[in-house]
Order: sequence, then C-alpha cells, then structure tokens
Amino acid sequence: MKELNGKTAIISGGAEGIGFGLAQVLGSHGMNIVIADINAEQLAKAQQHIEGLGIPSLGLNLDVTSSEQWGDVAQKTRARFGKVHMLVNNAGVGGAPGPIQTSTEKDWRWIVDVNLLGVVFGAQAVIPLIEEHGEGGWVINVASMAGFCSLPMASAYSATKAAVVAMSEGWHAELKDQNIHVSVLCPAFVKTRINLSQRNKQARYQSDEAQEELSKRDSELNQQMQSVIDAGASIQLVGERVVEAIAAKELYIITHPNFRWPVDARFSAISDSFHRAESSPLLSEIVKQKMPGLD
Ligand SMILES: NC(=O)c1ccc[n+]([C@@H]2O[C@H](COP(=O)([O-])OP(=O)(O)OC[C@H]3O[C@@H](n4cnc5c(N)ncnc54)[C@H](O)[C@@H]3O)[C@@H](O)[C@H]2O)c1
Repeated sequence: MKELNGKTAIISGGAEGIGFGLAQVLGSHGMNIVIADINAEQLAKAQQHIEGLGIPSLGLNLDVTSSEQWGDVAQKTRARFGKVHMLVNNAGVGGAPGPIQTSTEKDWRWIVDVNLLGVVFGAQAVIPLIEEHGEGGWVINVASMAGFCSLPMASAYSATKAAVVAMSEGWHAELKDQNIHVSVLCPAFVKTRINLSQRNKQARYQSDEAQEELSKRDSELNQQMQSVIDAGASIQLVGERVVEAIAAKELYIITHPNFRWPVDARFSAISDSFHRAESSPLLSEIVKQKMPGLD
C-alpha cells in the first residue's frame, strides 16, 4: 500500500501478538514503527527484531491506562519522526474469565482501564498529532468478534470490545472530514498469548484474596481456550488483512468470515424484537412518529 510509505505508526501493545504482527507488516510497507508496551523485556526483543528487518523504529514503555504516559509516547514519536500518521490501539487483556457473580471489582477495573480507557487515552494523545499536519491518516482500534456478540463467561471482555466497536463507529463519522480513516479490527481467534494476560496485570489490580480463586478458575478455562487459540489465525495473516482492509477503506475489519453466523443471529434477534414492538398496541402512536432530528 504505497500511501503508507515513509509514514509513522504508533502501535500500543506492539511487543507481542497481533500488535507485533502489525508492526512487521506495516514496516514492510515502508512505515516507521513505534512500538509501545508495558512489558519492557518483550519490548526490547521486539524492537531488536524490527530493527533487524531494517525498519526505522522506536520502542517506548507504555501502560495504556495512563494518559500521561500516552502523552509522552506521542511527543517522543513526534520528536523522533516529525509527524504521526497512524494510531493502532491494540493493547488489550483477556481479563479474568468467569461468571458475573464471582467476578471482582479489581478485575473489572483492570479490563475496563486497559481495553476501553486505554483506547480513549490513545486517541486523545495521538489524534491531535495526526490532525496537526493536515495530511490525514488512520486510527485502527483492535476490538474482537466478542464486540459483535458477547461471550458467556467473558462478559467484561465482551463489554469492553463492544465499547471499542461503538467508539470506532462514532470516531469514523467524526474524523472523516479530516481525512482520518477509523477502522475497527474484529478478529475471532488468533494465535497469541492473550489467554495469559495475567502476566501483564499491574499490581494495583491484583487482590490476594481473589487471586487464588481466579487462578483456579483461569487454569481450567485457559486450558479449554488454549487449543482454540493455538489453532487460530497467524499474526502475519491478521497484519496483512488489516492493510488490505484499510486500502479498501473498511470500517469493520473482518479476519474470520466463517464466524458470520453468530453475528447474523444477533442482528436477526434484534430485528425480530423491533417487529414485535411494531405490533404492540402500547406503541401504536410511537411507531408512526418520525425520528426526531434524523429525517
Ligand atoms: N488473540 C486473539 O484471539 C484475539 C482475538 C480478538 C481480539 N484480540 C485483541 O487483540 C489485541 C492484542 O492481543 P493479543 O492477542 O495480541 O494478545 P497478547 O497478550 O499476545 O499481546 C498483548 C500485548 O499488549 C501488551 N499489554 C498488555 N497490557 C498492556 C498495557 N496496560 N499497556 C500497554 N501494553 C499492554 C502486552 O505486553 C502484549 O505485548 C487485544 O486488544 C485483544 O483483545 C485478540
């Protein structure tokens, strides 16, 4: 994709997994790559690898839950490469899977802070730098198929990913006129270490009391998930699909067309509920009204 050549991308969580795959693919299209990650050890390895491929790059420490650290990443990127053209809000955690009755407040705050507010802070720090040069650019938010249809035992994860889809739809409309294209990547299973996200859990979200219960629960659920994730798409394929989709100016980036049926089933269920509401005697007046301000 020739428009990417010589431009600069910031990728949160770029030291491993999907973010690292994207770093390599975007770099192969001539982009300067900034990988920003909470895991210093992985970050050093990843940056060394990217440099070894001859891709101009910068590795920066970032915990996406900190708006100050996001500001620092944005400014250091501008200082090194002059302009910023692309933000990939990729960093995310799987959280602590399990039923709502036993999920802990700290785990909800962890997943909401990383998967939802981390995306908000990234957008607030980086979009102004994309706007300032007037050349346009891209924002790619990494959600999940779980953002389209909620997964049982993973309601916190699904809630954050549905939020990322919703934010992306809003920003897509808000930023269109500035030639900033917003996309949302919604993969099903990809072969990464997402099911071992606890490795990156910040101390403030850990609770001794809940930890024992969680690790028991996690080990069972993770064992079940492991084989599915191991059979998932490769990070290279996902990276290449993202480039193909942004070249086609897609809003929703689908990597697993075989996962269409649960999404179709959800839309049909919602549509059926509208039909039943239309025939409710209680709503006979409302059904005739025009939508305020949108006709
Ligand atoms: N792997 C899948 O099957 C799958 C499917 C759908 C969506 N996703 C999404 O893809 C994104 C990337 O996940 P992955 O599968 O590559 O997982 P991964 O665990 O392999 O990689 C996540 C990366 O994010 C970093 N990270 C974690 N917390 C961070 C924080 N607070 N600040 C900065 N960096 C942080 C990690 O160090 C790691 O480098 C996530 O948003 C995830 O929800 C993954």
